[in-house]
Amino acid sequence: MTPYTGRVVLITGASDGIGAELAMLLAQQGARLALAARRLELLHALASRIQAMHPHAEIAVWRTDVSDESACTRLIADVVAHYGGLDALVNNAGVSAHGYFEQVSDYGYYEKVMRVNYFGAMWCTRAALPHLRARRGLMVAVSSLAGKVGVPGRTAYSASKFALAGFCEALRCELHGSGVDICVVFPGVVATDTRVNGFGPDGRALGESRLREDDAMTAQECARQMLAAMTARKRELVMTAKGKLGQWMKLLAPAMVDRMARKALKQAGR
Ligand SMILES: NC(=O)c1ccc[n+]([C@@H]2O[C@H](COP(=O)([O-])OP(=O)(O)OC[C@H]3O[C@@H](n4cnc5c(N)ncnc54)[C@H](OP(=O)(O)O)[C@@H]3O)[C@@H](O)[C@H]2O)c1
Repeated sequence: MTPYTGRVVLITGASDGIGAELAMLLAQQGARLALAARRLELLHALASRIQAMHPHAEIAVWRTDVSDESACTRLIADVVAHYGGLDALVNNAGVSAHGYFEQVSDYGYYEKVMRVNYFGAMWCTRAALPHLRARRGLMVAVSSLAGKVGVPGRTAYSASKFALAGFCEALRCELHGSGVDICVVFPGVVATDTRVNGFGPDGRALGESRLREDDAMTAQECARQMLAAMTARKRELVMTAKGKLGQWMKLLAPAMVDRMARKALKQAGR
């Protein structure tokens, strides 16, 4: 038995990257999994891989675009109808974006990033809360170190991840005593396709990462740390030594943190 044995966990953005790795780990723990994303074929492939390793695993998948409010509401209703309740919601779905503010030619993606990274999580949380309250459950939100510190070239992304973190901080206070906990995760650079698939300054997929990836964390390690934080029902998980240092430095020497943020880029000025 583990803390997640028999628990119903919904992960958004489970088709790839960190969400898919977390699904694997939770299946090992005996969780009953609800997996959502837009690419249904990837969700089915992941479910098959998990089932091959854990024949008794319970997994259901839903094609969902979290940038659509009604889709988020429907997702939660479908998951609860399928499993009879919800113990944990992991708001992991996210999209990346990179472009210097003054070089952006299509600002439309600022709204798209906000709809996925912030509103999607907010809409899912709103629909899930009564069910989480009923089971004294957990809401997890995957922000980013770019949601703690503004990173150049990432005005759209940082804004969305700060918004998500601020929403969670306020909601945590509102939920005090309800039995529902909120865990906000702030990963550093994790080796996934997020930056390649993310928006570039013209609003199209960037096709390459513009961050330094040499010391990127693996998605498996990121998921492992997330699961540990979820199990301990921590309020925050700030990843990497630089991330931990950065949050203190921001109070003491903010200009030094700006310099650290500039160094995250492969080339200055891009
Ligand atoms: N990788 C990093 O360095 C890093 C660092 C900090 C924070 N994060 C955050 O970690 C989370 C997971 O990212 P990742 O690195 O694992 O990237 P990823 O491999 O690109 O995974 C992103 C997931 O989000 C889903 N998604 C994107 N847009 C969606 C939408 N509109 N509706 C539903 N699902 C959507 C994708 O599935 P579909 O395309 O199938 O919908 C995919 O499963 C994101 O919130 C990201 O911002 C990542």
